[in-house]
Amino acid sequence: MRHLMSPLDLSVEELEKLLNLANDIEHNPDKYAHVCDGKRIATLFYEPSTRTRLSFEAAMMNLGGKVLGFSSAASSSAAKGESVADTIRMASCYADIAAMRHPKEGAPLVASMASRIPVINAGDGGHQHPTQTLTDLLTIRSLKGRLDHLVIGLCGDLKFGRTVHSLIEALSRYEGVEFILISPEELRVPDYILEELRAKGIKYKEVVRLEEALPDLDLLYMTRVQKERFFNEEDYVRMKDFYILDKAKMELAGPEMLVLHPLPRVNEISVEVDNDPRAVYFQQVQYGVYVRMALIVTLLELEV
Ligand code: CP
Repeated sequence: MRHLMSPLDLSVEELEKLLNLANDIEHNPDKYAHVCDGKRIATLFYEPSTRTRLSFEAAMMNLGGKVLGFSSAASSSAAKGESVADTIRMASCYADIAAMRHPKEGAPLVASMASRIPVINAGDGGHQHPTQTLTDLLTIRSLKGRLDHLVIGLCGDLKFGRTVHSLIEALSRYEGVEFILISPEELRVPDYILEELRAKGIKYKEVVRLEEALPDLDLLYMTRVQKERFFNEEDYVRMKDFYILDKAKMELAGPEMLVLHPLPRVNEISVEVDNDPRAVYFQQVQYGVYVRMALIVTLLELEV
């Protein structure tokens, strides 16, 4: 039985196979409409979510399966003190696979150790968000045609942004990838990730000004400054509007540069950018369903 805690749990070859399956699902949805007949997914969400929870549920329904779960700690027995280990033992009796989001780093890993069913990390605190990364990789590969030889700008909260951490780790395995890390000093990428980049000999630079990076990028990955990760309101208020991507800034970028965002966005991308053909963050959401369908099929080891 396999779980997914980090994008690195899949080898590059396994990832390639998964993305190919996701593209096949995209183009031939009818072929997969009954692959999960009789199967259930439990979505165990201790932290708010729109995309991740609903896309897991849509993915399972598109495959012919059913869904059950909870969308907040308050509406589960966690509110009475039940541990994640006991909760997953219960879910193992009700479902065939589970997706868990939790504000504490490592909680899905703890759950996986007590589980009789595959557990997917659907985001753990400021640590990892592997299925967002699968979504990002499918989007990039589908729209750019490759995952190698790309200059990728990551902008915003690079310190607490779990989507950023997972994406850097995943893209670091491809040849010719370079990172431009765009953040205020207080929200820089954690040192352990920079050390990994240095150890692998991957080119990166850290800059504060988005304008400086834009002309060089193949991809811009915008992120939200996350209020829920700050210990004091004052720091959040000071940094929340540090970056705002608008039409004027988009003019500094090349015609082929794609803008991705894991969403939700607050102010960091002006709505006037939404109609720019380079803005692909809503297409990215659709890819998230295909790749989660492919992941469910893969972890359940179903014949397709
Ligand atoms: N991208 C993402 O994780 O969105 P949600 O928090 O809405 O699930």
